[in-house]
Amino acid sequence: MKTDKTFTLRNDETGEEFKLPVLDGIEGPSVIDVRKLYGETGYFTFDPSYTSTASCKSRLTFIDGDEGVLMHRGYTIEELTENSTFLEVAYLLLEGDLPNKKQYDEFEHHITYHTLVHEQLHKFFQGFRRDAHPMAVMCGVVAALSSFYHDSLDIWDPKQREISAHRLIAKIPTLAAMAHKYALGQPFVYPRNDLNYAENFLHMCFAVPAEPYHVSPVLARAMDKILILHADHEQNASTSTVRLAGSSQANPFACISSGITSLWGPAHGGANQAVLAMLREIGSVDRIPEFIEKAKDKDDPFRLMGFGHRVYKNYDPRAGVLKASCDEVLDELGVENEPLLAIARELEKAALADDYFVERKLFPNVDFYSGIILKAMGFPEEMFTVLFAVGRTVGWVAQWKEMIEEPTLRIGRPRQLYTGPAKRDYVPIDKR
Ligand code: ACO
Repeated sequence: MKTDKTFTLRNDETGEEFKLPVLDGIEGPSVIDVRKLYGETGYFTFDPSYTSTASCKSRLTFIDGDEGVLMHRGYTIEELTENSTFLEVAYLLLEGDLPNKKQYDEFEHHITYHTLVHEQLHKFFQGFRRDAHPMAVMCGVVAALSSFYHDSLDIWDPKQREISAHRLIAKIPTLAAMAHKYALGQPFVYPRNDLNYAENFLHMCFAVPAEPYHVSPVLARAMDKILILHADHEQNASTSTVRLAGSSQANPFACISSGITSLWGPAHGGANQAVLAMLREIGSVDRIPEFIEKAKDKDDPFRLMGFGHRVYKNYDPRAGVLKASCDEVLDELGVENEPLLAIARELEKAALADDYFVERKLFPNVDFYSGIILKAMGFPEEMFTVLFAVGRTVGWVAQWKEMIEEPTLRIGRPRQLYTGPAKRDYVPIDKR
């Protein structure tokens, strides 16, 4: 929102001053509007990892990293995980408000009746090696959706945008479960319309045709919570990737696939897989001090995975919810002593008592405990990031929709500070 406040930029060489408008959001820091800076001054701003740059306006999600607060459309993540279902949160992100009963039933119906994927899509899976990382499979098959649903690719038609959104949210668990089954060499399991979103996902991942599969309500609720916790997180790397891809007017299936590729990296969604690898490498509680020292050593590339966050300089509220959920899941599964959980708890304690981590405000993030829960549920580690993608798809879709519906949409095009050679004369090959 425009304010009367301004920010004055002074060129110390010429003494010239430029007044820049200041915009206020509903919450969070104000921003200096630099959109006209280049036109008026001939200067760009330089902010390579966007630590001081708001790339867009958004009404979806607010994070207060210093206080450890995460809210979707004004509701805290703690309230949503406690009281809502994932589909309710999905509706909230897409439509702006929590649904009433009728709206919820209609939305659930639309999602449920879009869960099947085209039979021909099954053939795509055969092209991947059985040992392919399921994120590689997901990048491919999600992008391939754009070749199946030509009737919903017109991004300027609100009805087609809505159908694409429903298709993506409905089909992503089906594709994720298929990626899991393909790696195991088991037959794909078709969705069941009598189950809710999380139950159906567990069913597609763990049922086999040879025997009935009972979905545990405790595990289904835990899965639902995991999906809620991953649903959106404002302008992180994968969401920014989706927005940038979408700003060129690419179709939503292609955009979400680009989000999946960005999520895959160990500094982002791949961290939950890396956490378990790290806990296993630590191996026992008595080796924790050794690994804390390694994490602090600047000559050692080792970092505590699942620790630290670009925005949270306090406990990630999602990690708090998951830490509590860990016990419920392990209880339900009768896992009494999970050695990796014992290491995780002690590692957290040791890091939070160490000056290095305290001074840098490094706290556990969402990935620190999620891997332990997912492992206990029976998911292989390669699937952890895929589960993140299943939850995050609604956030990507909602952010993409919000951007497309913005009347001032323009293609995203950052500039650069060129540091290569200055203009020089071309030297023919025989003279080099
Ligand atoms: N272990 C040890 N030291 C760390 C860690 C860590 N996990 N994270 C940050 N630091 C240190 C850095 O070395 C740096 O120290 P310095 O100031 O002495 O140079 C300082 O803390 C600040 O770290 P940056 O790397 O500048 O922070 P940035 O915001 O760029 O990175 C990130 C954030 C990528 C999440 C980082 O903390 C990290 O690599 N964590 C481990 C990977 C991880 O858990 N990723 C998941 C993120 S959450 C998500 O995507 C869902």
